[in-house]
Amino acid sequence: MEERFPDQFLWGGAIAANQCEGAYDLDGKGLSIQDVMPHGIWGPITEKPEAENLKLKGIDFYHRYPEDIALFAEMGFKVLRLSIAWSRIFPNGDDEEPNEAGLAYYDKVFDECRKYGIEPMVTLSHYETPLHLSLEYDGWRDRRLIGFFERYARTVFERYKGKVHYWLTFNEINSIRVYPFMGGAIHTPKDQLTASDLYQAAHHEFLASALAEKAAHEIDPENKVGCMVLGMINDPRTCAPEDLLAAMDQDHLYLFFTDVMMRGAYPSYTKALFEKLNVSLNMEPGDAELLKEGTADFLSFSYYMSRCVAADPSKYDSAAGNLTVSVRNPYLKQSQWGWAIDPAGLEQYCVRMYERYQKPLFIAENGLGAEDVLIPDGKGSYTVEDDYRIDYLRNHLKAVRNAIHQGAEIFGYTAWGCIDLVSASTAEMRKRYGMIYVDRNDDGTGTLNRYRKKSFYWYRDVIASNGSDL
Ligand code: BG6
Repeated sequence: MEERFPDQFLWGGAIAANQCEGAYDLDGKGLSIQDVMPHGIWGPITEKPEAENLKLKGIDFYHRYPEDIALFAEMGFKVLRLSIAWSRIFPNGDDEEPNEAGLAYYDKVFDECRKYGIEPMVTLSHYETPLHLSLEYDGWRDRRLIGFFERYARTVFERYKGKVHYWLTFNEINSIRVYPFMGGAIHTPKDQLTASDLYQAAHHEFLASALAEKAAHEIDPENKVGCMVLGMINDPRTCAPEDLLAAMDQDHLYLFFTDVMMRGAYPSYTKALFEKLNVSLNMEPGDAELLKEGTADFLSFSYYMSRCVAADPSKYDSAAGNLTVSVRNPYLKQSQWGWAIDPAGLEQYCVRMYERYQKPLFIAENGLGAEDVLIPDGKGSYTVEDDYRIDYLRNHLKAVRNAIHQGAEIFGYTAWGCIDLVSASTAEMRKRYGMIYVDRNDDGTGTLNRYRKKSFYWYRDVIASNGSDL
């Protein structure tokens, strides 16, 4: 078997502004939805930012980015996936003019990346929509957000022309279906929303994404813009026909989003799906054409785990997961947070997605959330012996290599939370993904010092060998 990753493979890590920057109110930044989500997706939102919200300070990447990017460079990163906090650029989201201090900040960050030959890959909207757009417009339910997003996208495409060539529009765009506030800044509680409300909001995001695709290419033909979804495999719990059909139905819920964005049209099963969910969609003249004109250049996705599906889930134990609950797969081990560890699922997802769309794939997130123990490294500093994380990453990278061997075109891999940051779903520090330990605790204490874990050195060697040394 071919043991090599492609020569120009983009190795790196991924972070998001709201989970690492902190400085939530500095230099003209407006509030984002995350500033009122101290409990992640599980708890109530607050009226204003509260000190208990760890994201307000994050890991202080806002000030410490030179040190952090130097550490990424030491690991040999070729790419850093990060997001722009929309509310640093347009504090309210609907402002006429951008905030220069916000634009200048990301100039410095991108320049710092380029100093080390690290290509930035920038997510425009990573669960951090300006709060004002949520309060005033009910988020993406309102079609006017398309125009606000286009203005924001054009502003950053023009400003960072030549510095950034890879862009992603909406992080895990398919999460809006399950978490309308985090995914779509929709302020109305989920139990008061109909399926039509949710799919209409998704439709607006599809249109905004298509406009951003077009604008990016018009401003710089070298730009490549990907869609970004929560990648998922839905395995039937048994081979009983009803379980197979249930798994197919679940697959459609996920595939729907990539089908629209990669093919530029609503898929063949839309009518059946919408009938079942009782969705009626308001399409305006020109919408279908715009979707066609603004398809994504590549498909990027997060992959942490797979789901298992049964026609009657009550017959089985349930399993937690990334923004999802499913039934437990008895063949798989689970992370400390109950997520099924399934490298073979990543291989299948890559192969299937490439076969389906025949466009390049980029693995924008993958990693293991685990509690780490900081110990002295014997050289006057500290480290973490995170062999469990190395095992997870190694097995998933082997799966990527297998998928490449089967013909999938995959041009890069960014390990999620390459430096410890605040978790998205649970808003805690305790759940760590990083190869770099950050001394910050759930009670807010800690020096914020950075320490190299064992996985830091392992990943450095993987990159140096272009994946031969897994
Ligand atoms: C993805 C998100 O869902 O998973 C990230 O894009 C998130 O923002 C990551 O951090 C891991 O999830 P969590 O909840 O463990 O932080």
